[in-house]
Amino acid sequence: MTNKNKTVWSSRFKNSPSQSFQRIGASINVDKRLYEQDIFASKIHTQMLIKKKIIPAKEGKKIIKGLDKIKRQIKSGKFKFKEKFEDIHLNIEKKLYEIIGDSAGYMHTARSRNDQVVTDFKLWVKDSSLVLIKELNSLMKNLIIKADKNVGTVMPGFTHLKNAQPVSFAHYLLAYYEMLKRDKQRFYNNLELINESPLGAAALSGTSYNIDRNFTSRKLGFKKPTNNSIDTVSDRDFAIDFLYACAVCAMHLSRLAEDFIILNSDAYQLISFNDKMLTGSSIMPQKKNPDPAELIRGRTGINYGKLNSILTIMKGLPISYFKDLQDDKALVFDGYDTLKDTLLMSNELIKNVNPSKTRMSDMAKTGYTTATDFADYLVKDKKLSFREAYKISSKIVNYAEKNKKNLDELTLNEIKKFYKNLDNNVLKIFNVKHSMNSKNSYGGTSERNIKNMISKYKKELK
Ligand code: ARG
Repeated sequence: MTNKNKTVWSSRFKNSPSQSFQRIGASINVDKRLYEQDIFASKIHTQMLIKKKIIPAKEGKKIIKGLDKIKRQIKSGKFKFKEKFEDIHLNIEKKLYEIIGDSAGYMHTARSRNDQVVTDFKLWVKDSSLVLIKELNSLMKNLIIKADKNVGTVMPGFTHLKNAQPVSFAHYLLAYYEMLKRDKQRFYNNLELINESPLGAAALSGTSYNIDRNFTSRKLGFKKPTNNSIDTVSDRDFAIDFLYACAVCAMHLSRLAEDFIILNSDAYQLISFNDKMLTGSSIMPQKKNPDPAELIRGRTGINYGKLNSILTIMKGLPISYFKDLQDDKALVFDGYDTLKDTLLMSNELIKNVNPSKTRMSDMAKTGYTTATDFADYLVKDKKLSFREAYKISSKIVNYAEKNKKNLDELTLNEIKKFYKNLDNNVLKIFNVKHSMNSKNSYGGTSERNIKNMISKYKKELK
């Protein structure tokens, strides 16, 4: 076998790994996605080796030039990734030999693949968190645009999927804004914890070379080097945190999708989608199905799965590095790709949803949604206790139900059967818009509150 085709450890081995293990154990098809981070980190590592006079500057410079060339080759699609060399780290090192010859041998001084891979991976998770934060921002902006147009749109608010109290469609949409805002913060929180550079922990015990971990940490964009070399190479908390943040965000989007699927159903007909968000049936000519919303809901399962997998991989693993850890990347990449697509689809869904305003208002009037308002009126105006007022209001609901009337269809005389001391002023209490706008407590659904919140949101998103 020519030197070019040998593994870096071939001097110790009589035989190559089995064919099947070479295929199964190679991660190159997954971790080639780390090539930019790997080359970046190798260049910084090499600069440090030169600065600290650990390797001759002449060799170091050749390494850096060679790495730049490899980056160009990979970018232009000319680089041939080889399963034989297992992963991205060894593929690049082997290529470096091809380009600059034996000088390449100086690069892997004072490091191991164990600290190298966590460094690359952390850099990737940092970059990718920012991409997801950007997608979240765009979705939040579109929620605000849609909410802004629907501040005065009354719909039935539900608990237990039973009509509860009138709310604004804008208020309902902005509930999701708040969830996404927390999702964004979860990714930002992770960026704090991830911000320690692993490079220099080497295999597990650190190194006897006089390296400068503060230099590499700074140049790589980390806040400081990690404190314990053993923890450094065995820690994957940052990947778990990332997948957890993805899973929670996917869960929120799944709830939005599920809400929309229900509100769009023929039973509800409270919203509709533009054709862009619908597909037809191969047999039923009349059908328009909300497939994108269903995919958003379904793929949450994928995001949960990735989180569950990585937690399980970690749970019985002695410290420090084991090959088990290699699969962390496929999980994180899949989790990221899935959530990114889910965010894209959610964005389109929000842009293409239309509230059916008349139907919303009509439905808000059914189900006696202003019964609480009447009880509150008796408390505020007639100084009854809430429990007493509740009893009277429930009797009116029973009466309306028996006579097949909505509450706002009752006459003053009918209402007075249940409480005498009332005049025409009471009638507005049963009006759904009046009810909505009376919810003026901070965070409530009144139009005034919503408008204030929207202008606050607009400022914070800038
Ligand atoms: N491809 C490996 C991984 O992703 C890199 C680390 C290999 N280290 C080792 N000791 N085999 O986990």
